[in-house]
Amino acid sequence: TKNELILAIETSCDETSVSVVRGGREVLVNLVSSQIETHEQFGGVVPEIASRQHVESITIIMEQAVREAGVELKDLSAIAVTQGPGLVGSLLVGIVAAKTLAMALDIPLIGTHHIAGHIYANQLVHELIYPSIALVVSGGHTELVVLEREGDFRIIGRTRDDAVGEAYDKVARALQFPYPGGPHVDRLAAEAEEEIELPRAWLEPDSYDFSFSGLKSAVLAAVNQAKMKGQELNKPALARGFQASVIDVLVTKALRAVHAEGARQLLLCGGVAANRGLRAALAARCQAEGVPLLVPPMSLCSDNAAMIGAAAHLKWKQGEFTALEMKAEPSFSL
Ligand code: KG4
Ligand code: ZN
Repeated sequence: TKNELILAIETSCDETSVSVVRGGREVLVNLVSSQIETHEQFGGVVPEIASRQHVESITIIMEQAVREAGVELKDLSAIAVTQGPGLVGSLLVGIVAAKTLAMALDIPLIGTHHIAGHIYANQLVHELIYPSIALVVSGGHTELVVLEREGDFRIIGRTRDDAVGEAYDKVARALQFPYPGGPHVDRLAAEAEEEIELPRAWLEPDSYDFSFSGLKSAVLAAVNQAKMKGQELNKPALARGFQASVIDVLVTKALRAVHAEGARQLLLCGGVAANRGLRAALAARCQAEGVPLLVPPMSLCSDNAAMIGAAAHLKWKQGEFTALEMKAEPSFSL
């Protein structure tokens, strides 16, 4: 079972993506059609518009993916699709396409968890060793997950309010950058010559949970104060202060979890894993503490179907298929 061809579909948010993955590791094609330009003008993802755009793109992207992968439909072994969590209307478009194809080709359907996808994106480029800890940071999620063994997830920490990416997007918006704002804050922070000190939300001493809404409010307060006093806002210094607070808490809690759980690796996953400051800080701390760090390449950090194909392959190996009656699970738990 080294050459199974899984066609994977991901439409949980504002990216229509189709990939063909061979043997759970080899990405033959990974097409991502982003709707960012459409949503940018609204300052965030508009669910109704997202589903409509998925409908417009899905068949085209599927056909293009099969063509570019150079495979025949009859050679596909299974169809994988993100079952949740995500926007229900968006998820449904991918699910209907996946069911249709699975039924027409008479091959198994594999419903996949979006976060399992972000985690197993690492498997496309690295060798995973268990137990390990995954730090999942995206627009919708901030979680510390213990991977005791393959396919087994135990969440030990999560955000109590905003997800990291969400906090980045709100801060970027206050600094007048378009959606998605994470990359703008990242760049600004790297360019900054000064830093405005901002608070860190450590929560209870033994907690692995996170909270970013207080930090976000501190940034908004600084923006408003400058406006009221008619002072010029030092945007780079504010971005750097925000990013320093986020990174300090994420890195400290992730490494504490690694040592407490006896993990042999730390995996960084999700859209915010593209953050250069976070990657650098984690790499430095992991090196200092002798912890192997796995980070996916940039193209596999944000939402994409290859990661869904990688996660689905583990289910394929176990013969864990999903009934065609399967439904979208907007708040699917890991
Ligand atoms: O994983 P993802 O593509 O979608 C979700 O499943 O949420 O993550 C998107 C999030 C957005 O909030 C975006 O602003 C953030 O990832 N992001 C970043 C960076 N690149 C993307 N945040 C901080 N720094 C970055 N370089
Ligand atoms: Zn995601």
